[in-house]
Amino acid sequence: MEFQEAYSALTQLGGFTDDDAAQLQKHRAVFEEMAPAIIDGFYERLTSYPDAAAVFRDGEIADNKPRVTAWFLSLTSGDLNEEFWRHQVYVGYLHILRGVKNTYTLGMMSFVQTAVGDALAEMIEDTAEAERTIESFNRITSMVAGLIGEGFTAGTVEALISVAGLSEDLVKNMRNLTVRDEMQQYKATSFSYAE
Ligand code: HEM
Repeated sequence: MEFQEAYSALTQLGGFTDDDAAQLQKHRAVFEEMAPAIIDGFYERLTSYPDAAAVFRDGEIADNKPRVTAWFLSLTSGDLNEEFWRHQVYVGYLHILRGVKNTYTLGMMSFVQTAVGDALAEMIEDTAEAERTIESFNRITSMVAGLIGEGFTAGTVEALISVAGLSEDLVKNMRNLTVRDEMQQYKATSFSYAE
């Protein structure tokens, strides 16, 4: 995966800056307080979807909780160097190896954003301050979701190039042919944007 390219596209298009990191760090105590409920809610939602629940081995969720809690709190560490962002890609790859689909991680990131947003709105009295923190949290978690998602695409393309030995152009052409074909299934017939 082209890490620098993915990182710069996500920061520049998504608008994440050091101010967001500082905003999250400022409210670290609030994140620490909500963490147990957020992580419990995370696994409750995740296991309510049987195909996602099936990914876990016996007892694995209990083992994972402290690590996912540590991940959650690392978002508020304020020290978001390149190692931090590269670690997000690593976490994404761990999931790919376990057969987790990108739709599952995206769905769960949406859960995290909503649950944390609701908790911040309740726990931070000053409304403008709560809103700033929610925005920063949404920007950082969208960055993480983007890096994980890019891993899914890049992992597949790189396998075709480096393992199957196909040229990059050929892989792109194959992808475009397949996408053009698939597009027909998704082409709107009865849906259109309102005038
Ligand atoms: C917002 C989405 C998610 C985040 C942020 C997340 C985060 C994490 C983190 C931080 C770890 C620990 C990584 C480590 O050991 O360093 C982990 C492990 C794991 N997660 Fe997730 N996860 C997400 C979604 C999911 C979903 C949707 C599934 C299953 C359907 C899942 C299944 C697992 C499994 C099986 C492991 C253990 C991986 C291993 O050690 O082989 N996760 N996750």
